[in-house]
Amino acid sequence: MRMFDIIRKKRDGYELSTEEIRFFIEKYVLNEIPDYQAAALLMAIYFNGMSERETADLTFAVRDSGARLDFSSINGVRVDKHSTGGVGDKTSLIVAPLVACLGVKVAKMSGRGLGHTGGTIDKLESIPGFDTSISTEEFLKNVNEIGVSIVGQSRDLAPADKKLYALRDVTATIDSLPLVVSSIMGKKLAADDDCIVLDVKSGSGAFTKTLDDSRALARAMVDIGKRAGKKMLALITDMDRPLGNAIGNSLEVAEAVDTLNGRGPKDLTEICLVLASNMLFLAGKGSVEACRAACEKAVKDGSALETLAKMVKAQGGDVSVIYDTDKFKKAKYAFEVKVSTSGYIYGVDTEGYGRASLLLGAGRNTIEDTIDYSAGIILKKKTGDRVENGDVIAVLYSDDREKFAEAAKVFDASTHISDEAPIARPLVLDRIE
Ligand code: URA
Repeated sequence: MRMFDIIRKKRDGYELSTEEIRFFIEKYVLNEIPDYQAAALLMAIYFNGMSERETADLTFAVRDSGARLDFSSINGVRVDKHSTGGVGDKTSLIVAPLVACLGVKVAKMSGRGLGHTGGTIDKLESIPGFDTSISTEEFLKNVNEIGVSIVGQSRDLAPADKKLYALRDVTATIDSLPLVVSSIMGKKLAADDDCIVLDVKSGSGAFTKTLDDSRALARAMVDIGKRAGKKMLALITDMDRPLGNAIGNSLEVAEAVDTLNGRGPKDLTEICLVLASNMLFLAGKGSVEACRAACEKAVKDGSALETLAKMVKAQGGDVSVIYDTDKFKKAKYAFEVKVSTSGYIYGVDTEGYGRASLLLGAGRNTIEDTIDYSAGIILKKKTGDRVENGDVIAVLYSDDREKFAEAAKVFDASTHISDEAPIARPLVLDRIE
């Protein structure tokens, strides 16, 4: 088999065979196919797409490109949740302990921030001492004893995706449905969960900007998960505005703790209750309504927060910041963004807000960059709110004062104020079983 023939076949619009797809992934991981040939194939896939069968084959080849995890020593049903990435999305920090304290196991592998989107692992590492690379034995022991553990993806989990993602990032081939599906599901299926709830974000801060694209992505991922024998469900949720009011690592952990204390922003609280109740439902814990009532009770009686605290302690983190989030190190400087007109916040470019947070130091521009964990944004006004000239709509935080000018400019350009109030958009746009 020759890579040249595979590229030409896809370039000319033909379907690749299972063997051709496996050949490409196996040889690429072994560095026997150069990046320029892989990039040519990615571009051919970008333009010509893939059939359902090809997409499934690519996903399974990515899954099988490294070690598969074995969770069989975990007692009980294992459920995972995966978000396609957004701004201010700290739901994993809330739903993982919430679901775990209600008797379902969450053995979670999460990622770091990518582009304008944040990552759960960076957020957790803003807790002093928190170790996201504990051994597999410890990870499994913690899941059995506490119900939940969250770690970074091990190096040998779906290594084909690591190489392909980096290549897609620099060859303008990220936003291709079969490539996104195989990237996300290849990693998810290499883990050993019984049930997966997908949170497919839709809107200006998401990978899929339109509802139709989000639905197509959700359906494709649900189908492939089912083919692999998993119980699957997808929720399509709004990312036309950031989730909650905090963007940036320790700011988001503090907001997650507030939410587990029953004092979180309305939108974040609602999305977390919907996600957690659907995770419990999929795991066989009763109707979605009954599961939601159980979640509300676990927030009220403090058991969900207690489970987060136990997880933090078991992974070496400083639990005192969970019980008192004022103990998080504060950014040295704060900068208020004020509006220079009156009206309604008609809409925001959520990706722009994510970029502004990145500029403040909350994310990486290159893989080597270090993160300023206290940097970020607290939103004071959101889409639909009325603002008067001079009102503070956000406070920016950074250890480097020089970063405010550019970040404020990006933030400003991403906020659209109008005389008209926008039509309210639901938080949950669709549910696909
Ligand atoms: N997240 C991933 O892991 N892969 C993609 O391709 C897009 C989002």
